[in-house]
Amino acid sequence: MRTPLVVANWKMHGTLGEARALASAVRDGLKRPRAEVVLCPPFTALAAVAEILAGSTIGLGAQNCHWETQGAFTGEVSPAMLAELGCRLVIIGHSERRQHLGETDALVNRKVRAALAQGVTPLLCVGESADERRQGLTFTVVEGQLRAGLGGVSPEDLGRCIVAYEPLWAIGTGVNATPAQASEVHGYLRGLLSELASKETAQAIRILYGGSVKADNAGELCREPEIDGALVGGASLQAQSFIGIVRKAAARGGSHPKE
Ligand code: 13P
Repeated sequence: MRTPLVVANWKMHGTLGEARALASAVRDGLKRPRAEVVLCPPFTALAAVAEILAGSTIGLGAQNCHWETQGAFTGEVSPAMLAELGCRLVIIGHSERRQHLGETDALVNRKVRAALAQGVTPLLCVGESADERRQGLTFTVVEGQLRAGLGGVSPEDLGRCIVAYEPLWAIGTGVNATPAQASEVHGYLRGLLSELASKETAQAIRILYGGSVKADNAGELCREPEIDGALVGGASLQAQSFIGIVRKAAARGGSHPKE
C-alpha cells in the first residue's frame, strides 16, 4: 500500500514573513497527518521553512535544481546544496519551467540523475497541453517525457522516484482533470514504470496528480486507486485549504481521519 503524499508547490510566492507564517500554520494544523506532506517554498525561504518544520513530520522540498554539484553556474542551486538544507525532495521538469525557461527532456533527465546521486528524491512532472489532448497525443507526450526523464536511471533508483501527472490545461485554470481522466493516465504511467523497472517497483512508486487540486475535489481524485496524492499549487498558499487537501488525501478509501 502506497502512503499518500501531498506536496505543496508554492511557486514564486511569499516573502520570508509569509513563508514562515504559512509553514507554521500548516505544521500546527497537521500534527499527525496520515499522509506524507512536503512543502516546497522558493529557494529564498528554504532555510527559514526548514527551521519551522524541524522536529515535525512535515518535510521540506525544492522546486528545481541544477544537474551539477557545484561550479560556475550563476544563479543556480545544486542538489547537494538542497540536501544540506534538509530537502528530501525536489520537483523536476515542472511544465512552467519547460514552457517559460526552455527546460528540455535532456536537462530534466540530468537533473533527475543528479538529485538521486545526492539522495534527494526527484519528483518528475509530466503532462500534455490542451492541444495535445485534443489531438489524441496525451499518452504519446507523457510517455516521451517519462522515458526521457528517467533515461539511464537504474531499476533500483527508479524505486526512489516520484512522478506527478500535471496536465497543462489544468494548471492554475480551475479546471481539474476528472478522476477518470487522471486515473487513465496514471495507470498508463504505472504500466511504463513496470517496463522500465519491474512490476513490484512500479507498484511502490507514487504517482501524484496536479492541476487545480482543491479541498473540494481532492477527495474524489485521491479515492482513485492509481492516484497516490497531489501536487498542489494555488491551494497550497492558504493553510486551511492545503490542510483540507491533506485530510482528503489521507482518507483514501472514505474514512476521515482526525489529526
Ligand atoms: P495549481 O494547483 O495552481 O493548478 O498548480 C498546479 C501545479 O502546477 C503544481 O505544481
